[in-house]
Amino acid sequence: NWTSLRPILISIVVVLPYCPAFLSAAMDAERDTILLIWMWPFGFRFDLNCNDFNISRCHLTNDKNLYHKAHGILFHHRDINGQLSNMPKLPRPSFQKWVWFNMESPANSNLIPGLNQVFNLTCSYRLDSDIPVPYGYLEPVTSEDESFKLPAKDKLVCWIVSNWNPKYKRVEYYNELKKHVEIHIYGKAFGKKLSDQEYSDILLSCKFYLSFENSISRDYITEKLYNPMGKGSVPIALGPTRQMYEDHIPADSFIHVNDFSTPKELAQRLLYLDQNHSEYMRFFNWTSMFKVKGTHLGRDHACKTCKYLQNHRGYQAVNDLNGWYWG
Ligand SMILES: *[C@@H]1O[C@H](CO)[C@@H](O)[C@H](O)[C@H]1NC(C)=O
Ligand SMILES: *[C@@H]1O[C@H](CO)[C@@H](O)[C@H](O)[C@H]1NC(C)=O
Ligand SMILES: *[C@@H]1O[C@H](CO)[C@@H](O)[C@H](O)[C@H]1NC(C)=O
Ligand SMILES: *[C@@H]1O[C@H](CO)[C@@H](O)[C@H](O)[C@H]1NC(C)=O
Repeated sequence: NWTSLRPILISIVVVLPYCPAFLSAAMDAERDTILLIWMWPFGFRFDLNCNDFNISRCHLTNDKNLYHKAHGILFHHRDINGQLSNMPKLPRPSFQKWVWFNMESPANSNLIPGLNQVFNLTCSYRLDSDIPVPYGYLEPVTSEDESFKLPAKDKLVCWIVSNWNPKYKRVEYYNELKKHVEIHIYGKAFGKKLSDQEYSDILLSCKFYLSFENSISRDYITEKLYNPMGKGSVPIALGPTRQMYEDHIPADSFIHVNDFSTPKELAQRLLYLDQNHSEYMRFFNWTSMFKVKGTHLGRDHACKTCKYLQNHRGYQAVNDLNGWYWG
């Protein structure tokens, strides 16, 4: 008799959604979060998995046929052409978020007028991005990590530079500094591109390294800082303010050019530290607590974006990308 069953059926239908077992079953049935990589950054293909990220239910893909299902689409700024002709033309699903991804400084990125009111999220090295991904970070050491040992040093100051531009602040600073202390220079700017091994050997064998950024802007702190730190060389930072560096690394782990009123004073300090081993070693205090990790272009950005999308389903818009980034 169906009429007598009705109240029971209704109560099952009403109660079921509130029952935890049903809820988790419903969530299992829910699709993974899909992030579509619209273009490879600089054409560089990366692995489409987030295995070591402690993220589940993320599906990264570069299959444009999944456009209508994708929760997010990742666009790499440098690879967007000026006419936006390589951007999707189809209507945008209402749940889909477009993510602006860029790791280059404003000075090294073209301002494209048509990009305001296009994106929903930003993913860049800037800490005020929706999805901030600095070039590196310090992670606690674990009992498995070997304790820090200072590599053998036979040089005081080194610099590897591939892009030489006399107008850059870093070149002006270098030209002054070298009058007062010997600087060992390497790299494409001096006619020799280094292998990874040579690059690493140079960092290991120098006490200090000129971590001079090519342009000075907010939070723009690159592998030029993190690579020497990871190899046991003390970075001499030229970039944003000391305060901004201290948002990323401990205050006593580096020298900032602004700590000295002239390049000559910096040189004098370096020559002193060359003689005083115990004082030099204090720059490595942090190594008992932390180790350096570098981020991988593309994969870190995609995995973090996917996680972000999972946790933020609401409406978001980047209305003034150009003002925010280039303003
Ligand atoms: C992995 O993520 C889960 C859930 O977000 C969290 O409880 C756990 O602590 C994370 N594990 C690590 C190693 O980060
Ligand atoms: C080295 O520096 C320490 C302070 O860190 C100081 O006590 C010591 O006198 C210095 N040694 C020399 C030889 O300058
Ligand atoms: C390094 O750490 C020691 C003790 O942990 C501290 O006394 C010293 O001041 C630190 N060095 C610097 C430069 O802060
Ligand atoms: C994403 O941004 C666009 C442009 O501002 C907007 O039209 C769209 O509704 C936004 N979508 C979401 C899911 O926030």
